Order: sequence, then structure tokens, then C-alpha cells
Amino acid sequence: MSETRNFKRYTITTALPYANGPIHIGHLAGVYVPADIFVRYLRMRGREVLFVGGSDEHGVPITIRAKKEGVSPQQIVDHYHNIIKKSFEEFGISYDIYSRTSSQTHHKFSQDFFLNLLNKGELITQQSLQYFDEEAGQFLADRYIVGTCPNCGNEEAYGDQCEKCGSSLSPQELINPHSTLSGSKPVLKETKHWYLPLDKYEPWLRQWILEEHKEWKTNVYGQCKSWLDNGLQPRAVTRDLDWGVPVPLAEAQGKVLYVWFEAPLGYVSATIDWAAREGKDWQVYWKDQQTRLIHFIGKDNIVFHCIIFPTMLKMDGSYILPDNVPANEFMNLEGKKISTSRNWAVWLNEYLEDFPGKQDVLRYVLTANMPETKDNDFTWKNFQHHNNNELAAIYGNLVNRAIVLTHKYYNGKVPENFLFEDEESIYSFIANKRDEVSNHLEQFRFRDALNSMMDVARFGNKYLTEKEPWKLVKSSPNITKGIIYNVLQIIANLALLSEPFLPFTAKKLREVLNIDLLDWDSIGSPLLKTCDMIAEPSILFEQITDEMIEKQLNKLHQNDNKAIIQNNLSDLKPAIKWEDFDKIDLRIGRVLSVDKVPDADKLLKLELDFGGITRTIISGIAQHIKPEEIIGKNVIVVANLEKKKIRGIESEGMVIFAENKDGKLLPIFADDNANPGDKVK
Ligand code: 2FM
Ligand code: ZN
Repeated sequence: MSETRNFKRYTITTALPYANGPIHIGHLAGVYVPADIFVRYLRMRGREVLFVGGSDEHGVPITIRAKKEGVSPQQIVDHYHNIIKKSFEEFGISYDIYSRTSSQTHHKFSQDFFLNLLNKGELITQQSLQYFDEEAGQFLADRYIVGTCPNCGNEEAYGDQCEKCGSSLSPQELINPHSTLSGSKPVLKETKHWYLPLDKYEPWLRQWILEEHKEWKTNVYGQCKSWLDNGLQPRAVTRDLDWGVPVPLAEAQGKVLYVWFEAPLGYVSATIDWAAREGKDWQVYWKDQQTRLIHFIGKDNIVFHCIIFPTMLKMDGSYILPDNVPANEFMNLEGKKISTSRNWAVWLNEYLEDFPGKQDVLRYVLTANMPETKDNDFTWKNFQHHNNNELAAIYGNLVNRAIVLTHKYYNGKVPENFLFEDEESIYSFIANKRDEVSNHLEQFRFRDALNSMMDVARFGNKYLTEKEPWKLVKSSPNITKGIIYNVLQIIANLALLSEPFLPFTAKKLREVLNIDLLDWDSIGSPLLKTCDMIAEPSILFEQITDEMIEKQLNKLHQNDNKAIIQNNLSDLKPAIKWEDFDKIDLRIGRVLSVDKVPDADKLLKLELDFGGITRTIISGIAQHIKPEEIIGKNVIVVANLEKKKIRGIESEGMVIFAENKDGKLLPIFADDNANPGDKVK
């Protein structure tokens, strides 16, 4: 197994989050907390580690968000990059560099990487037909095309997916497609793209993953195997888009590198920036066989990090390949999938407003429930349980008792040790737990590692409870000193052993005990000397009350309701110009008569008075509105809409209705004092 190889240094990467929203607990549990635990552990072992992160600032969701908000994509990514970066800092994710893919270094590096593959003859080109919006003058990304889902009839399905029935689609499967940019019907047009011929590398990938990396986590190995067993196809690495890294070829005007081609190269470009800053050579972190490369990601990124990116690196030929990709599954919240659009999430910035200083509590709970092999659930009740019954009752209680007793009996000084007979069993227990933590971490079993760390706190509590020094202090002062001495050594060891998991608490505890962050191997030995001064005790973990939990649950459910309301605006069409709005002529029409259209369940034929002129309008409202509800009423009509024949009847305009969230249409009436034909402004 590759773990046994002797690596000289580590390059650890974490998936680059899209800079189109803040970070939530699912991100932290899946990727960033495990990576940070691993890195802190390696650093304590004295390994040379480079820990790289950054924001993924390209891709269609960012351009869509920008359009919706009427701002530029750069404004969106600037805003969220800063929020995300701050959250990582606040939660102690100890990056050496947190970069971004809109940086100049990244653009240049990914363009050069592309050109190198092209010059080596590794890329192929293919012509294909893609939807083009003639009004907007551009090709349409799948997400910019909406139409009727061929599977469920949802009229708002996207070109890549129907969110109603969940089926993945290609734009050409949509019935009646239209562009979300202009509303017009897109046409199919030829376009040229550059492709990675993954099929050519399939035999190599089978050997490299399925034979040489059998030690990868079963969820990762299984997903790779299923991709490989289904057969790989060439994959386009360019797109017709105006936001991204431009394809560096004269013939590729208006094209950018596919976000999944350039984003993982962001790990390298971040290293280049870091190395320039630190006066180091970036290449050893990516090209030296003695560097161990590990990607921390979520399960939705497996194919990109295990198949596509390694193939790109292999094609280049000068890079090392990932030695492991310990992807996690997903974290759910209160039994439901975390959803940004429904605001069903715990956002890190909001968590810290409600629980200031409690970063470690969240780190602990997310580690204890880490979705290592299957999806897992975060609940607020469980959060309270872990805090009150483990962090406070076991870890905090041990530390507090040890320090309070030291102050009470010895004025805050580490007493002399008169109890040498306990030492061997104490240090061998701790050393054993240290090795257990190491073994678990090296196999990416973070939950087990956390548990082994907590065993030391449990052990300390048991020792103190069994020895009952408070009963001996008068009768056997020397034994009492020995007990307190030993308990202080246990908590000092805990301060080191818990550093990867609870860095804020560990630091606080080291400050109280006045010890440095020593290396991993010193765990399992006495760390304090007689007469060392211990600071006053302070509470490490406060109780989390039922009220605090209720508040979070209420907030979550309120958010959910608010999100449903806001969602009516979340599918807002792109902003239009004033002059475009001005083209629409809205008028008052008075409904004179309403008739059924023969053989059409959904349609009604309306005759409307426009002030001396009568018009006919066919409206798809038969299942929503009874004729008597609208006859004689003033309604609003788009009066200059082009005429259209519907079921052989010419329809001269459109009556406006409201649609509620269940899809029911409701009439909109104008005041009775308005006259037919009046303008609506
Ligand atoms: O899934 C995501 O959020 C992507 N932005 C992850 C990219 S990881 C890497 F390739 F940069
Ligand atoms: Zn559907």
C-alpha cells in the first residue's frame, strides 16, 4: 500500500468551492474539517506539508446569479470569495494559501497547460451542433435553455436537468426550448470544441485505479469502477461562453476553458503564487515523486479528481498523480438534504453570530458525524448532546477539575510527583491512543480518530474519580500531589492530542498550562515540570441549553418558509431594459363573453371590449377560472402581442393572470372605474 512509501512532503488540496454563495456545514464536514485535521496532524509529525485551497470563480451558475442580480460575474465572485475565505479563517482551516481562479497566475497557467496538451497532440477537436440565441448573438450553456421536460411535462426544465422529476437531459431533448437570455427560440449551429480523449486513457486508468489503488475508500473506488465499467468518452474541455479563462487560440474567439478543466489546475496555480511569496520552488510540490498528493473532496467531485484531472496530469507527463482521494459522502440537515435555494442549511457566518467562539464545538460534532462512508445527518439535538455530554462533561470537566484542584491545593503550581507507580500505565495508555489516532487518520477514519482522542479524556476522568484525591489531601499529602501531578500530565497530553481536532481549545489549554505546541511523538510522556505555573481555570465548553436549540430549529424552519416565498423570485427572468418594457402595450379590456373552445379542455375563448372595438383572445384558463367569475370585469391585456392562431381561432392579445405556487391561475381585476381601452402604466 502506498501509505508505507516514504514520502518526503505532502501536497494537500481541498475542493475549490464555487464563489456564488457562502459556506455551510455540509461543506465543512465533507471536505474542509477532515483536510484540516489531517494537515494539523502531519505538521505535528514534522512532515513538510503544503495545504492549498481557493475559490472556484468560473462556471455558468456564477454568470446566472450575476444576471439575476444585475451585476457582473466579477462582482459576485469578489463578494463571495471574501465571505468564504473569512469563514475558513474563522474555523481554523489552516491553509498555506487560499487562492482564486480569477487570478492572473491561474489564467496564464491553465492556458499554458492547455497549449502544452494541444502541442503534444493530446487533444482532439470535434464539430457539434449547439443551441445558439440569434437575438442575444451567443451560444447557450445548457442552463440557459429552458423547455418542456420530455419525461414529466414540466415546462421549466433546464437544458441539463429537469428539477421536477430529477432526470438529466441534454438541451436537444427539451420540447419547445427557449433561451432564458432573450426568450427566443434558439437555433442549432455548428461549433468547434477541444476534447480530452478519455477513451484512449481508459486502459491506463483501469490499471492505475483498479489495480494500483485498491486501498482507496470503497465509496471512491466503487464510483471510479462504475465510470470505467461504463466506458469513457472524449470530453469537451472548451465552452462557448464569455466568463472563464479564454481559450488561448486565435480561432477560438468567444470560447473559454471548461470550468472543470481549469478549476483543478487552480491547485497548481495557487502553489505557484504561494511559492513566489515564500521564495520556494513550486515544482517540487507537483513534480517530485517523493511528494504525496492528496485531494480532499465531496462525492460529487470524484470523477473529476480520480479520472479527468489525473488524465490531464498524465497527458502532460511531468506531474505526480494523486496518491489518494478520500472523498466523503454528504451531510444532511435534520433529515433533509441541505439546499441552498430553500435555505435549508446552517451557514458558517450565521453559526458564529449565534455561537461566538464555539468553532470547536461545530468541528467536533461534524467530525463525530462525518459522512465517511455514507450520507449522515446533522441535527441540533445531537449537536447539544455532543457538546453537553462529551465536550463539557468529559473533556471540559477533566480539565476544569485538574486545574481547580491545582489552584486549591498548590496555588496553581504543578506539585511534585510521589506516585511513580502509576506513570508507566498512564503514559503507555496515552502513547497507545496516540498511535490509534495516527492509524485512523492515516486511513482517513476521522470519527474513530476523534473517539480515540476522547478516550484519553475519559481515562483522565476515571483516574481522578477512582483516586479521589480530595479524600486524601489531609491524610496522604504526597499521594495527593502525585495524583494531581499525573492528572495535569494527562491534560497536557490531551492538549497536544486534540490539536488537530479542536485547535482553538487545544491552544487555550496550552496557554493555561504554559506549554508549546510540541511534536506528535512527545505525546505519551510527561510534558510539565514540578513548580510550573498553571493559569486560572476558565470554562472550555459551556452548556448548550434547550432554548438555544429551539431557537436554531425555529430559525431553520422559518428560513425554509421564507425561502419558499423568496423562491417565487428565484426564477426571476434576466433584467430587461426600460426601452424593452416600453414596447409592451398593456390595456384595460372588459370581458363580454366567455365560451369553451371545442375539443380543448384547457382553453377558453374570451370576447373583450376595448372601447368600441371587440377582440377575441384564447386563454389557457379553463381549468382555473369559471366564466361567471370574470364576465363583466375589467382585466389587463397585453394588447400589442402578435396575433396567433390557436385551434383555428385567431387570438389577439393575452389576458394577464396571477399564478400561485401550486400553479393555479387567479384573475387580476382592474378598478371598475377604468374604461375599456385605457392604458395600463
Ligand atoms: O463542486 C464544486 O463546488 C466545485 N467548485 C469544486 C471544484 S474542485 C477543483 F477542481 F477545483
Ligand atoms: Zn421532468
